[in-house]
Amino acid sequence: MTTDPAPQEQPAAELVNLADFEVLARQRISPMAWAYLCGAAGDELTLKWNREAFSRIRLRPRVLVDVSRLDTRVELFGQELPFPILLAAVAYHRLFHPEGEAATARGAGAAGATMIVSTAATTAIEDIAAAATRPLWFQLYVQRDRGFTRALVERAQSAGCRALCLTVDTPVAGARDREAKAHFTLPSGIHLPNLEGLPLPRDPHRPREGDIYSALLAPDVTWKDVEWLLSFAKVPVVMKGILDGDDADRAVKTGAAGLIVSNHGARNLDTAPPTIEALPHIIERVAGRVPVLVDGGIRRGTDVLKALALGARAVLIGRPYLFGLAVGGAEGVSRVVNILLNELQMAMALTGRPTIASLDRSVIWPAENAR
Ligand code: FNR
Repeated sequence: MTTDPAPQEQPAAELVNLADFEVLARQRISPMAWAYLCGAAGDELTLKWNREAFSRIRLRPRVLVDVSRLDTRVELFGQELPFPILLAAVAYHRLFHPEGEAATARGAGAAGATMIVSTAATTAIEDIAAAATRPLWFQLYVQRDRGFTRALVERAQSAGCRALCLTVDTPVAGARDREAKAHFTLPSGIHLPNLEGLPLPRDPHRPREGDIYSALLAPDVTWKDVEWLLSFAKVPVVMKGILDGDDADRAVKTGAAGLIVSNHGARNLDTAPPTIEALPHIIERVAGRVPVLVDGGIRRGTDVLKALALGARAVLIGRPYLFGLAVGGAEGVSRVVNILLNELQMAMALTGRPTIASLDRSVIWPAENAR
């Protein structure tokens, strides 16, 4: 009996774009980890739309501009970032590489990117901070135990986190069919050290049949909790997961330092709009009062450029840097960031926009913009 030869792996040195990293990452991690990373909610329509919406927007090249020097720097909450691409909070990095979040932090630092550490990290925030060479942000899922939540925020601040990213779109997770079919479970030996001390089941991720609530997510978080957090937080609080104009307005009035337009990588409410489509509405409503960031489906430098042109101060990527982590640890993470940054620089040069400040709606081809 003959067996099929193993599929030829593309050598890591030949990966030229984020899609190449995706292909190789799939070969490197278990089907269960893959289902967790790449799955989304329901029929995954929003997942598809996040990408399609970017591909529908067309760009207008402008010529004969001196682009021999490009400046990608942006300022965000008093921090100067060398470029407007951050690493979004993603849980469980040890599923993708044995060094987990410490490797991500090293890779982010080497590339000059800001990493947002998830509440559900598989490495303690202090150990990630020890590995990091650039300031971190901390993503907060408010826990049922608010006293524990406060102590966690103080722990993140003591570890040096420069901003809090309060995720407000996840009172429950969405219908994660791919995860369910892959029988996703946290492998033994993978822990959530930031949540140590809470009475969590051994595998807190696993929902019980017939129960939509997760041990990791408090379903009773309201605007009162935002006010409460703002009353003691010592660093800027950015609210992540805003898609509605009224929510955006209320967030700013409540005191959020910034907003992230996000549909949680399409993992929560299927058929919610693609984020790049929601962005202009939020930008209009916020009217410059605070910076607005966006994530969801950003895979090309041209996507970053489009988001900035539509008013985002910066963007975040989720899955792609985990592809990098799975493929090559810290180095894989930096290569993913560097590729995306190089593509952004090419797009800036080819649209005749040498600075981030010079990116505005006139970069978008108007026929599409008029929709
Ligand atoms: C996430 N996301 C997320 N968000 C958050 O606030 N806390 C978290 O712990 C996680 N965990 C998480 C795990 C995985 C596997 C994914 C893919 C996503 C959402 C994440 O921060 C971000 O909003 C999306 O990943 C952005 O979309 P793309 O770039 O993955 O398309």
